[in-house]
Amino acid sequence: MISLIVAILLVLLAIYFNEGIRKYSQLLYIGMTLLSILAFWQIEATLFTPIRLGGLGFGIFYVVMLTGALKHKSKLRITLMKVRMEYSILGFIAITPHALYQLLKYINGDIAIPILGIIAYAIMIPLFITSFRVIRKKMTYQNWKTLQRFAYIVYIGLSIHLILNSALPNFAVYIIEFAGYFILKVMYEVKRYQRTKSKQFA
Ligand code: HEM
Repeated sequence: MISLIVAILLVLLAIYFNEGIRKYSQLLYIGMTLLSILAFWQIEATLFTPIRLGGLGFGIFYVVMLTGALKHKSKLRITLMKVRMEYSILGFIAITPHALYQLLKYINGDIAIPILGIIAYAIMIPLFITSFRVIRKKMTYQNWKTLQRFAYIVYIGLSIHLILNSALPNFAVYIIEFAGYFILKVMYEVKRYQRTKSKQFA
């Protein structure tokens, strides 16, 4: 449930505080890093349950995912695209305590290997690093674009990771979130294909 509330809040923040998010992005990154360090330090505390169970990190990440599936040139897509980089960086920082905590639980033999979570997180590392403008500028646009396509492996891996590792009501929320994403994405790609086709024959 947390991930849905976080996602809605972030969409509203993107609509009403778009410029502020971009202007104060460095401060947001520092703030989220401090929160993540504190949460990892006190990971069992009830206060940090949304971080321990991945709800906060996934909520932020879901907005990044959804942005790429929204209707071409729609107002919401244009608005969210402006803060997508910032949200993908904040999402990675926010999910890190969850990944590390669960990884330690696996290393200590407390849980079975959550392989899809580990693969998703591992792929998110280069995507995170290349989200920073200073790094992105050092890459050709084509290389950067090719790397970003690995995000689709993350999306598919996460959809299974979350469905396998959650119970109701969260389980139902993840089904709705991922079904919504995949339906919108298919519609977006079909429209994009039709656009390129009609341009070819124009
Ligand atoms: C090293 C990487 C990861 C590991 C080892 C891992 C491990 C786990 C485990 C063991 C659970 C079950 C937790 C429980 O029921 O107590 C879980 C649940 C979850 N994970 Fe991960 N995970 C990883 C990466 C990720 C990533 C990258 C995301 C999202 C971006 C994510 C989001 C979630 C969410 C939302 C849940 C469901 C919690 C719930 O609603 O009950 N995980 N993960």
